[in-house]
Amino acid sequence: MPHLVPYLPDDAPFSAEQRAWLNGFFAGWSTRARSGDGAALYPPPGGDGQPPAGDGQARGWPVPADPPPPHYSRTHPFPARLRTNRPLNAAGSAKDVRHLEIDLDGSGLTYEAGDALGVIPQNCPAYVENLIDALGWRGDEPVVIDGASMPLREALQTRLTITQPPRALLDAYAERSNDDALTHLLEDRQTLHDFLRGRDVLDLVLRYPAVRFEPQSFVDLLRPLQHRLYSISSSPRAHPGEVHLTVGCVRYEAHGRLRKGVCSTFLAERCAPEDPLPVFVHPNTTFRLPADTDTPIIMIGPGTGIAPFRGFLYERRATGARGKNWLIFGDQHAATDFLYRDELEGFLQDGTLDRLDLAWSRDGAEKVYVQHRLREHARTLFDWLEDGAVLYVCGDAARMARDVDAALHDVLRTAGALSEEAAAAYVTQLKQARRYLRDVY
Ligand SMILES: Cc1cc2nc3c(=O)[nH]c(=O)nc-3n(C[C@H](O)[C@H](O)[C@H](O)COP(=O)(O)OP(=O)(O)OC[C@H]3O[C@@H](n4cnc5c(N)ncnc54)[C@H](O)[C@@H]3O)c2cc1C
Ligand SMILES: NC(=O)c1ccc[n+]([C@@H]2O[C@H](COP(=O)([O-])OP(=O)(O)OC[C@H]3O[C@@H](n4cnc5c(N)ncnc54)[C@H](OP(=O)(O)O)[C@@H]3O)[C@@H](O)[C@H]2O)c1
Repeated sequence: MPHLVPYLPDDAPFSAEQRAWLNGFFAGWSTRARSGDGAALYPPPGGDGQPPAGDGQARGWPVPADPPPPHYSRTHPFPARLRTNRPLNAAGSAKDVRHLEIDLDGSGLTYEAGDALGVIPQNCPAYVENLIDALGWRGDEPVVIDGASMPLREALQTRLTITQPPRALLDAYAERSNDDALTHLLEDRQTLHDFLRGRDVLDLVLRYPAVRFEPQSFVDLLRPLQHRLYSISSSPRAHPGEVHLTVGCVRYEAHGRLRKGVCSTFLAERCAPEDPLPVFVHPNTTFRLPADTDTPIIMIGPGTGIAPFRGFLYERRATGARGKNWLIFGDQHAATDFLYRDELEGFLQDGTLDRLDLAWSRDGAEKVYVQHRLREHARTLFDWLEDGAVLYVCGDAARMARDVDAALHDVLRTAGALSEEAAAAYVTQLKQARRYLRDVY
């Protein structure tokens, strides 16, 4: 089956331990989470990091005055708070990118600039209601998920993937509908991939109203809801106790209906400041600032690809790094999509940023992308690389990262006067020396 959300594994990522913990985690979510007593819903995990319970002092064990914080992780996410949710695009933009600030106070979570934050989202309640209606149910039917009984509505909102239909559900519909067209679709990978693009579980249910399931047998065919990762756009030194994200909302029209990305719109539209937001830190040890703070860095990050570089710049400023910093950013229009404009201009003014090059793809007759700036400034780029700069790329994996890579080879051929083979060897060497690092999605 085609992989429609390529950055998340197809199969359920939850261990038995996580399933058990999540059962407790989500218990009573809908009724209690907004009561302001969210913290009580999320007891810290036991196990590692917890002091021995009870009579440690009497047994002569050292008892710390302040017990160490529990180890929050993917299997035990921290119930954080979303403190700030601010649009970064001006009115009239085709994009909706949000600057989010999440309070990690009391979590004991630490991160380095370049790491990502894992977020466990919830599905859109309006979509869940439409799905329940289409299935002809009420929503309060009890179902069992990972051994825990809960109302169907809660399971669909907080526990299950209800966007892309999984293979098991498609097979069940093919069998129960006796629809040869669907059976045929399932036989060919590409045809199925094309059919599924922009379609969700509700589409399937609406397409076959005569096909009936029991609630439990239906949910048994769905996959667990999965976390999403976001590059952290803050610096632990400049922003202690908090983590910032730069999230592009996924919204698109397909087959006559507005579709919403689960996690990006959960964060942007549905997560209230008083709601516990389950998060964990996902270390990204291959995308870090150079240990030697004198090393120059070149950051290429169009669109939301700017996220880790905002964190890098705050970090370099906070550590007093003397290495030069060059950012190449781009998006559709300067007037509406210049993300973090004030902050970047501030970094230029205070000397944190040595260069800022911009590429606005839709402001002129011709598209201008970040790789055009690389080619334009080939000589400077080559000089920085010769001076030992680390080159970072973040953002779209499908097209941008590939085209930037091609531009890098061109730069080495033109400004570096290298043959095609020598340019390829230069790039290989950069990679081996961890001086060409990519965080693309
Ligand atoms: C390491 C890492 C770092 C990341 N950092 C960031 C970041 O800093 N900022 C950020 O915004 N994102 C980032 N992402 C992406 C992020 O994890 C999510 O994938 C993204 O927010 C979408 O998730 P969602 O739940 O909102 O959408 P989903 O519900 O997962 O839906 C997305 C899916 O919708 C489908 N789709 C989207 N558009 C269309 C369309 N026009 N037509 C048909 N189908 C379509 C595609 O199948 C797509 O995969 C990062 C990803 C990784 C792996
Ligand atoms: N997997 C997911 O669910 C998911 C979710 C969100 C984002 N993403 C990926 O993350 C990317 C970032 O999204 P975003 O909205 O922040 O930015 P984006 O779509 O990458 O757009 C940022 C800028 O890059 C330009 N661009 C387009 N193609 C390019 C190319 N081949 N080379 C260089 N620049 C190019 C865009 O121009 P034009 O728009 O004018 O072409 C725009 O000016 C998306 O493209 C998407 O692939 C994935």
